[in-house]
Parts: sequence; C-alpha cells; structure tokens
Amino acid sequence: MATVAEPSVVSGGAHKASIRFTVNNVEHVVEGPNPRTSLLDYLRETAGLRGTKVMCREGGCGCCTVALMRPDPLQPQQMLTESVNSCLLPLCSLDNRHVITIEGLGGQRQGFHILQKRMVHYNALQCGYCTPGFIMQMYSLLAGKASPSLQEAEDLFDGNLCRCTGYRPILDAVKSFAEGQPGVVDIEDLKVCPHSGELCRLADGGSVVGLTKRFSAGGAEWYQVSSLLDLLNLLHEKMARKYKLVCGNTSKGVYKSDEPYEVYIDVKAVPDLNSVDLSTAGLTVQSSVTLTHLIGSLEDNAHESRSFSVLALHLKKVANHAVRNVASWAGNLMMKHEHREFISDVFVVLEAAGAQLCVRDIVSTMDVSLPDFLEIDMRGKVIVSMTIPKLDADESMNTYKIMMRAQNAHAYVSAGFRWRLCRHDGSSVIVQAATLVFSGVSSKLVHAYKTEKFLIGKDLGLPTTLKGALAELMVELEPEEDPVLASPAYRKILAMALFYKFYLLQVDDGVVSSRVRSARTILQRQVSRGEQTYDTQPDLYPLTQPLPKLAALLQTSGEAQFTDDVPPSRSELFAAFVTSTRGSANLASLDVMRALAMPGAVRVLQASDIPPGGHNTFMPPPFAPEEMLCSQEVLYAGQPIAFCLADSADVAQSMAGAIDVIYSDLRKPLISLDEAVAASSFWPSLEGDLKVGDAEGAIAKAPRSVQGEIHIGEQAHFYMETQVCRCVPTEDCLEVQTAHQWQDLAQDGVAYALGLKAKDVVVSARRLGGSFGGKATRANIVACCTALAAYLTRRPVRCAMNFNTNMEALGRRHRYLVKYKVGFHEDGELIGVLITYYCDSGSANNDSEVQETLLFADNAYKCANWHLISVAVKTDIPSATWCRSPGSLPVIFVMENIIEHIARELRKDPVEVQRQNLYRKGDITPNGFHLDYCSIRDVYSKLLQMADVTNRQADIVHYNASNRWKKRGLSVVPIKYGISWSFGHFLCAVSVYANDGTITISHGGIECGQGINTKVAQVCAHILGIPMKIISVAPTNTLLSPNAQATGGSISSELNCLAVQNCCDELRRRMDPVRESLPPNVTWLELVKACFNKKINLRAQHWVWPDDRNDGPQYNSYGVTAAEVEVDVLTGESITSRVDILFDCGQSLNPAIDVGQVEGAFIMGLGYWLTERVTYDPVSGRLLTRGTWEYKPPCSKDIPVDFRVHLLKDAPNPVGVLRSKASGEPPQCMSCSVLFAVKHAVDSARSELGLKEYFVMDGPATPDKVALSCLLDPRQFTF
Ligand SMILES: Cc1cc2nc3c(=O)[nH]c(=O)nc-3n(C[C@H](O)[C@H](O)[C@H](O)COP(=O)(O)OP(=O)(O)OC[C@H]3O[C@@H](n4cnc5c(N)ncnc54)[C@H](O)[C@@H]3O)c2cc1C
Ligand code: FES
Ligand code: FES
Repeated sequence: MATVAEPSVVSGGAHKASIRFTVNNVEHVVEGPNPRTSLLDYLRETAGLRGTKVMCREGGCGCCTVALMRPDPLQPQQMLTESVNSCLLPLCSLDNRHVITIEGLGGQRQGFHILQKRMVHYNALQCGYCTPGFIMQMYSLLAGKASPSLQEAEDLFDGNLCRCTGYRPILDAVKSFAEGQPGVVDIEDLKVCPHSGELCRLADGGSVVGLTKRFSAGGAEWYQVSSLLDLLNLLHEKMARKYKLVCGNTSKGVYKSDEPYEVYIDVKAVPDLNSVDLSTAGLTVQSSVTLTHLIGSLEDNAHESRSFSVLALHLKKVANHAVRNVASWAGNLMMKHEHREFISDVFVVLEAAGAQLCVRDIVSTMDVSLPDFLEIDMRGKVIVSMTIPKLDADESMNTYKIMMRAQNAHAYVSAGFRWRLCRHDGSSVIVQAATLVFSGVSSKLVHAYKTEKFLIGKDLGLPTTLKGALAELMVELEPEEDPVLASPAYRKILAMALFYKFYLLQVDDGVVSSRVRSARTILQRQVSRGEQTYDTQPDLYPLTQPLPKLAALLQTSGEAQFTDDVPPSRSELFAAFVTSTRGSANLASLDVMRALAMPGAVRVLQASDIPPGGHNTFMPPPFAPEEMLCSQEVLYAGQPIAFCLADSADVAQSMAGAIDVIYSDLRKPLISLDEAVAASSFWPSLEGDLKVGDAEGAIAKAPRSVQGEIHIGEQAHFYMETQVCRCVPTEDCLEVQTAHQWQDLAQDGVAYALGLKAKDVVVSARRLGGSFGGKATRANIVACCTALAAYLTRRPVRCAMNFNTNMEALGRRHRYLVKYKVGFHEDGELIGVLITYYCDSGSANNDSEVQETLLFADNAYKCANWHLISVAVKTDIPSATWCRSPGSLPVIFVMENIIEHIARELRKDPVEVQRQNLYRKGDITPNGFHLDYCSIRDVYSKLLQMADVTNRQADIVHYNASNRWKKRGLSVVPIKYGISWSFGHFLCAVSVYANDGTITISHGGIECGQGINTKVAQVCAHILGIPMKIISVAPTNTLLSPNAQATGGSISSELNCLAVQNCCDELRRRMDPVRESLPPNVTWLELVKACFNKKINLRAQHWVWPDDRNDGPQYNSYGVTAAEVEVDVLTGESITSRVDILFDCGQSLNPAIDVGQVEGAFIMGLGYWLTERVTYDPVSGRLLTRGTWEYKPPCSKDIPVDFRVHLLKDAPNPVGVLRSKASGEPPQCMSCSVLFAVKHAVDSARSELGLKEYFVMDGPATPDKVALSCLLDPRQFTF
C-alpha cells in the first residue's frame, strides 16, 4: 500500500480527507490530495510508474492513456473498463476507482501481455513513446469486448497519435483481434495480472451516500458531493469564489488558461445526475452522463427516433474515445456558455434536435432551450438534465461536421438541420417548419432564423426555393475573422454547402439530376488495409530478416527508459522556460517576485547568470551565436527569456507563468515571407547559386515556356517526447543526459556556454521518443540551459519541456516561396530550368538548407540547362530547423509542380511529361554526378503496372464526368534521392566478453525509432555467425563514441552498420587463426575463450568517415508512388483511397524496419501536404498553432484506405553497406503525390466551370484551400 501525505483540512460535515484507489491491483491511499494534481503526475512522480508517457497534457495525443475501472453508472452492478487521458483526470476524482496502467498488463519480470506481444509481432512501434498509450486504448476496448468488429477496431485510435509508424501496423495489430480474424483470442487471454492469473475485476467501494468529502491543498479545495441537494447547497455557499464543477475535467484540455480554480466540486458521482430515461417526451439524460454513454443510449434507442442515430453518429466525431469516456455533454455546453466562440458539436446537434435543458439552483428549477441557456447567468446553477424529443414522422434531420483531419479535430463548421415536411403525391415537398443551426461561422450565430422563416411554406422541389434560401443564407451568415480558423469566405460557403447537401436529401431523385446527387453524401471511408512485399535472403539471416526491434517488447511495457523516465534524485530541481509573448522588441524588465514567492520556487536564471568565461549561446563556434536566454533584443515571440527552477516540475511551470515581462521599443515583426522577400530581408548567401549551361538563354529560345510561383508551409516535427535534458554535476564533470540527435554538439555547446572543456562534459542518451531533425541543433538550448542550472546550483536539474512552449520556442521545417521559369519542347522535353527558392530560415541561419535545395532540385529529371538560386530569408519567427528530408521534400515538390505545369500547358497527362524527362543510366545531374547505376525508368514502369495506373485513370475520368460534387484524382511521383555519406562520421566498438561470449556494441548513432540498434546487431550477428540474443547495444555517449556526427540524413544506420561490419571483420581477422587451430565444430564460446587465452584483444573499434566524393552522393535511392484520392468538392475534405509505393531499398538489412520507415515517412509527408497548417499572430508574431487543438498531424484515419508498400526486389546496391540503401527520408519525398492527386480532383471540379488553365495548389492543401480552389459559388448549387 502506498501512502502519501499532503497537508489536509477537514471541514465541518466532512468526513475523511483521504482518497483510496487501486493502481494495477495495488491499493493507494493519498492523504489530503492536491485538487490540481492529475492522475498522470501522480503515476509518474509519486507512484514511480513511468510507463505512462506525457506529451501534450491536452487530451490530444493519447500518450498518457490508462484504463479506468468503475461501476457503470447506468447499470451499477457492472464494471466498466474505459480508456482515459490521465493528464486530464484529477487525482481527487479517483476515490474508489481502479486504474490500470501499462505496468499492470505485463513486463519483463511477470511476462508480456498478449497485446504487447501482438504489437511487436506487427512491428507496430518505432520510437515506442506512443506505444503504451496505444496498448491501453486497445486494452480498454478488448476488456469490454474481446472480439470487436473490424470497424470498431478501425475507429479505435481517434485520440492516439503516432508520428513514427504511419499507423498501418498499429491498425493491423488491433484488427488481428477483430471478429472473424485468425488472431482473435479468448477474453481470458486478456487478463491483466499474469502473476495472479485473474482478470482485474475489483470490488467497487461505491460512493459514500450522504457524505461530502473535502480536500484542500496548494490553495485549492476539492469537494466530493454525493447528492444533488448537497451540490446545490455547496454551490450556493461557494458561488462567489472561482469554482468549477468537475465532471470529466476535459475542458482543461481546450481552455487551459481557465485554470486554476479555487474550488473544485466533483459532480461525477452524484447518483441523481447519472441516469438516462426514455419516455414519450423523448430521452431524458442527466448531466453527468458521459458522451460515450450518451452515444450508447442513443444507439440503444435508435428505433424510437431516427434522430437518435444521427446524433450518435455526430457525437462519435467529438473529441476521442478517451475524452468521450469521461466528458459530459453538460460540461461541453457549459464551455459554450463560457466561451461563445467555442465550436461545440454537442450544442449544435442538441439544438438541432430540439433538446430542452433543466437547470437548477438552490431556489428554483427552470426548463430552457439551448439558445436561452446561453443567456442565463449560471453562477450557482447546475444543469441537471436534458430531454431530447423524438423526431415526428414528418420530420427529417441530419447533422454535419467538417474538420481539418478525419478524427479528433474541432469543426471548421458544424451544422444541424431539422425540417418538418409535408409531401404531396410525391410531386411537391412543402416545408412546415425549419431548424438551421450552425457552429463555427460566428460566435453570435446559432440559428439562421431568416432562412428558417423564408423556407416555411415553400416547395423544396422548386428551383426558386433553393435559390431564395441560399440568398437568405448569403446575407445571414456573417463569419468572424479568426486567424486560427479557416478564412471567413470558406466557412461561409461551407455552411451554405452543408445546407445544400441537406436540402438535396429532402427532394426526390426525380428532381435532382444524377450528376448532382453526389452532393447529398459526405465522404465514406472504408476500413483500411495494407500490403507489404519485399524479398529476403534466408541464407544471410539474421541479415535481411524482418526482425522486430531489439527493445520492442520493453517499449510496449513502458520499461524502455526515455530521458524523463529516469527517476529523480532527492535533491533534483525541475526547470521550465519563460518565453517572450512578443517578437521584435527589447526586454525592458522582468519581474520575478511573484514567481519566487511560490512555495517550492528556487531560482530564476537569466542571461546575466551565465558564468564568467562562458558564452550566452547554445550554438558553439563555428556556428553563429544564438542566445540561450535573451539578453536584450527579442528576436521572435516564443524566445526563451528566463529559466525557472523549482523543486517540482509543476511549480517550475507555474513560476514561468507568473513572471511579468515588460517590453520596450516594440516593432512590427516581419512574419510574412512574401513581405520579407519584397523587403530583401535575406541572410548572407552560402552556396546559393548553381549554374549548368545557360538556362536563361535556353528558356528564351525554347518553343514553349511557363513560369509560376508557389508557397510551401512549415511543419512541426511533432516528436512525441518533447525536448528533455537532465544534468547531474559530479566531482569531475557534468553528466548531461539529453534527448539529442547530436551529442558532439551538445558536449561542445555546454562546454562553450559554461566556459568548460569538452572533457568536463559527458553526454549520453539511451533512446529518443522521435526527433525527425528537431533534436539536432535545437535540443542544444535545452541542454545548455539545464547544464547552466546544474552548474550554478550544484544540484541535478531536469527540464522536460512543456509541449506548448516547445512548439512556440523552437522552429519548424523551413517554409518557401519559389519562383520558376522553364523552357521545353512541344513534346515536353525540358530545355532550361530557372528556379529561385526563397527559403525562410527565420531569426537565425545556423540550420540553413540552401545547399540541400540545390542538391535535390532536379528530382528525377534530365535537363541540359539549369540555373538554381537559393536564398535564405530572414524573418522574425523562430529559427527554422532541419526536419526529415530537409530541402529535398520541398524542392522535389517544386520540380513536380513544374512537370504538372508543363503537362497542363501541353494538354498532356503529367505521366507523359515525367516519362519524357526521366533520367537514364549514364546521364549527369546538375551537380555533376554520373548516374552509372540508375533504375528510375524501370521502377517507374513497374509501379505503373503494379498500380494499374492506366485503367484506374480511365475509371477516374468516367467517375468525374458522372459526378459534379465528388471528384477523384490520381497522381504519380517518382524520386531520385541522393544519399551523401561525406558528412557522416561515427566511432563504433564491438566488445566480446571472454567469460560467456556475449557482446556489447557501442556506436555513435542515436536510436530514435529508426531501428539503428537492431540493424547494427544484425550485421554483427551475421559477420561473426552468432545468435542475436547474445548481443546488446549500449546507450550512446561521448565517452564510448566521441566526435560523432548528428544522427540524421538517413545515413546513420548504414554508416554505423559499416563501422560495426569493420569491427567484426577486424575481430574475425584476429580470431580466425585461433579458430583454424581448433576443431571444426568449435563453439563460439570456446573460440572466444581460446582467443582470450592467446591474449587476443577482444574489442575492436572502427572510425567511419567516408571520403568526400567529388562527383556527388554515394548512391541514389529511387522510388515511385501512385496516390489516388476522392474529394468532396462542397467541403474540400478528401480521402486518400489508395497509395502504391515502390521503393528501391537495395537489399534491405531489415525489411520490417525499412517498410516501417517508408510508411512512417510517407504519412508524415501526407500530414505536411494535407493537414499541418502553421499560423502566426501578425501583430505579436506569436505562434497560434501551438497546441493539439490547433495543429493537426495525421491520425489513423487519415492514412490511405488501401496502402501498398513494395520494396524493389532483386536490387542489391553495389556501393551500399552490405548491398543496402537508406530508407528514412527518401520515401517522404513522394508524399506530395497526395497533394497532386487532390489537385487533379480539383482540376476536374474547375473544368466544370470551363476553367482549363493551370492553377497553383500551395501546401498544405487543407480542406478550406481545396474547396476555395474549386471556386465554389452558391450559384452553382442547383438541382
Ligand atoms: C482533445 C479534446 C478534443 C475535443 N474535441 C471536441 C470536438 O470535436 N467537439 C466538441 O464539441 N467538443 C470537443 N471537445 C470538448 C469536450 O467535448 C468537452 O471538453 C467535454 O464535453 C466537457 O465535459 P467535462 O465533463 O469534461 O467537463 P468539465 O471539464 O468537467 O467541466 C466543464 C465546464 O462545465 C461546467 N459543468 C460541468 N458539469 C456541469 C453541470 N452539471 N452544470 C453546470 N456546469 C457544469 C464546469 O464548471 C466547467 O466550467 C474536446 C475536448 C478535448 C479535450
Ligand atoms: S499527454 Fe495526455 S493526451 Fe497528451
Ligand atoms: S512509435 Fe509512435 S510516436 Fe514513435
């Protein structure tokens, strides 16, 4: 039993000031719990259960998912097991509850759980940071239903993000349990406690009727009330205070700044607020009923009213499973009450259905409509229940939610329609009553009252009715400007389009032409599937074997340790950054008094605290300095200004929020890239000009030419483990444990910042929870500041960066403005290419990708004349930084745009133009590289055939001709991707232990999910002829592998494999003579011992640093992708229906890992091109998309419905490591195929308007951009 004492106050009438609950069957009693402590913090900080991970603290990522067991409020004799986000769940709400965490399922000691093994079997993890959350989500589903339907499995992960895998294998893992699948198991196999052999079915303590508990700590009070009367009395008493009624507490994930409250009143367990009743009046639902239960009740009673299933369907699109499992509908309505701009789906659909609320306070009860509820003063009042009426036979209802991403996103616009219709002889449909409700258009608009009025008495079958209603809506819908939301123009036309959809559903087929009927529906996504093919060489196993990653099982159980999982030592301090809220200003003063007065506060560090001899920069020479803590001039909003130290992470974060910063000399920040280019705000050019032949002259003489301009946005790395560093001062050095891709830079940076020597700083990391380039140079600011704090305080210090601060303070992928001019022959053959890339480096230029743009500009196409100019632009945003496929991803997209532009100009299919220009063996690239080995034409033809491109294109033409409002598009994108080894240098060592023959490898790369440790072990096992199980791979550190290059550029795995190959060859050279002197069947151990006795050094090391090649990269990777999408022209939403990738990975060292890299890279790219939009406040320069509510990487239902990945067979790489090729970045560069496919669909929509000219589709092609590119106009909305 774990007992934790915190200060407690027991008030009159209250009984005990402790809570009791179990975690994994172990009872925990917490005396006087702090009302503001979350379950997540309790699990990680107090209970020491660090298998549950943390990222956003917003309910938006799913890292922190655990299972909660509680009695079903609707059937109390039954226990429910539901997933919850432990970051949002208050500890105080857990009294008498049972929590199951990943540790409860299984692990190294007690044996792994079937779910954990299944994830490994499907290779469903890379960095593994998200994995415990996914498993707990699966567990919660399967604990209630051992064999769910395929659809339920497919729908499960709406709240769990994974940045590495691309979701396909995770979906396969959960689907293997679905009904009818061969892998389905008995529910007994899902048992939680392998040691007890029991399913975790604990007795429930129940709520203590009639008693009110009160806890008080940290300046906050928590009341656990058990009856409505007590609640009303208490509310009356506390109504003057800042209070919150806590049901699911999920509003904290959306409106973080509403916190903290003084008084929290837990209403969840109040029995009078937890029931659902069906009567003739409709469904009466009490206010604490969760969204999950509401959906269940609506589905159970769907036969009572057609509207109930409509509501259920819509509510399933609200938030995600873990949120809906605890979130109440009433809490949602109250959020709308408090924040009128909140785009509440719940409000829209309930109002559309005509729900009435019952609201009470101590003296009165009132029944109100939802719009009236918004106007009443709710202080001291409680929503008790709502009644959803049944739909009458002559009523029709539907609701819509259009969002940026398939799941877990707020709506651009939500709409609900309920009309009473009178049908006459099938010929006319007269409107008797109409309800039109919208959310997302304007905070003031609920009903389109004028349009409702207009419709009454009108015949829907008459074109004038549709026209008139649209005209009314046109006037009535007045969208507000909001930089985070889509443009007002889109939201207005979208609201009208949704109306049009519903309208068409009400009129007979005879009235609506067949081409127009596609307007009636929204896009329907099928259950997804995947296919992966590759060849292996069993005679070389374990080389080329599709093996799971070495630490995969430990990652599934949460035992694999990330930096922030290291338990803190007794004297450890915790740190949090204070960041500027303004860019382009000077720091006038910092008031730290409030922060330092907080209990637990220790110190606030500023630039002036950097010791003499040190330097205020986290980028050591030869890099240009970038300040650790701003000393005077604030370059961008989000820039770190101070570093708060406290005895807990929570207090450090609160301190950061309590520091008042005064700015002076405020200037308008330069945020717009276009404005920066116009103002020639450039960094000094570095190798920014490449000329081959005479591009300008060739273009001038070319028979045909085109020119254009294109914008490409930023992308957050969205590594799920935020930046983190722990620094421990020892007697002779600073030990820096940092989630860093570049340990050498960290060592150098810390030493330079503090005026130390490299020998005084030891840097280490076991693994990273994703990085994607974002932890190469940017991790240094965290390492340097944490080291500064440890150096000054002589105490261990840890900084695990708050997610929003991380998003704001550190930059993203570079954004671009690109201008091009191209000359070509009538057949499409390129003659001359002139491109200027304006590449936004932001407020610093250390991570410039100017050079990369020039290396990848040609993609896969031959041309005799090139002029490529790359300019690094200076703006007032955080320094952009390398992100997976830096430079290559955008410029390959640009070249494909040029191909598209030429094709349009020549009225050809882009495939023809691609084919015309693809490189051939022996060609020379603009960078002077001879393509002695070039398989692109072969790969291209194969893919076209495998994906049946020609036939599918014909089908698409037919489909598009038959449908006005749904369009399909297909695009093919080839790549040539140069892999350069010249910058990679790593030191590896292989040590054989004479006692038992086991081996430890140390290498200079960083395991960040890409499987480097597994690949080096495979190489070692192959060359020495030993089993994998006797090999371990040590965490990387600067003692074992000094002077290592950053892990990145796709080359670290292969170069470290090369180094290990050399080590093993060296060991063999030493050991072979001994082997020859022994009998032929000598075992490995006998050989090792014999070598040891002959005084042979059993440790070999190798320093790999390939020579610079004058003629370009070491080799090229080739690949081709065909992507098909379907677009709803009326909403701009799209579904990626099928993707076929053929990728040349040489002879893959581990096809399971490489397929994972291909899929993960592609999906990260898909997010970049379709959903991940970054916006800034133009006045302050602050990042507006800094939370999971605003920034949307892909979810599991954004991936292709049919996802086929093929590694090119029989393609050994003559110049690769053991015939292999890299896989980390190249496949991502084919992801722009989805954007082009969308563009082709849009093209078809535009051609309906007679527009045949080329148009630009900038990235990302979010639904708003897509719909507006279709040039939607309500005048097109006809029958
Ligand atoms: C990741 C995420 C995604 C989301 N996505 C969506 C979405 O797509 N669409 C959408 O509409 N919403 C969305 N939401 C909002 C979500 O639906 C609400 O957070 C949730 O319904 C609030 O319910 P709760 O029980 O957690 O409220 P709580 O957080 O417990 O309380 C919220 C407010 O309601 C008050 N309150 C609670 N119960 C009562 C009562 N009985 N009487 C009076 N006041 C009461 C509280 O005082 C508080 O002010 C999302 C939320 C998250 C975290
Ligand atoms: S940390 Fe809880 S959902 Fe992200
Ligand atoms: S494996 Fe999912 S985030 Fe890395």
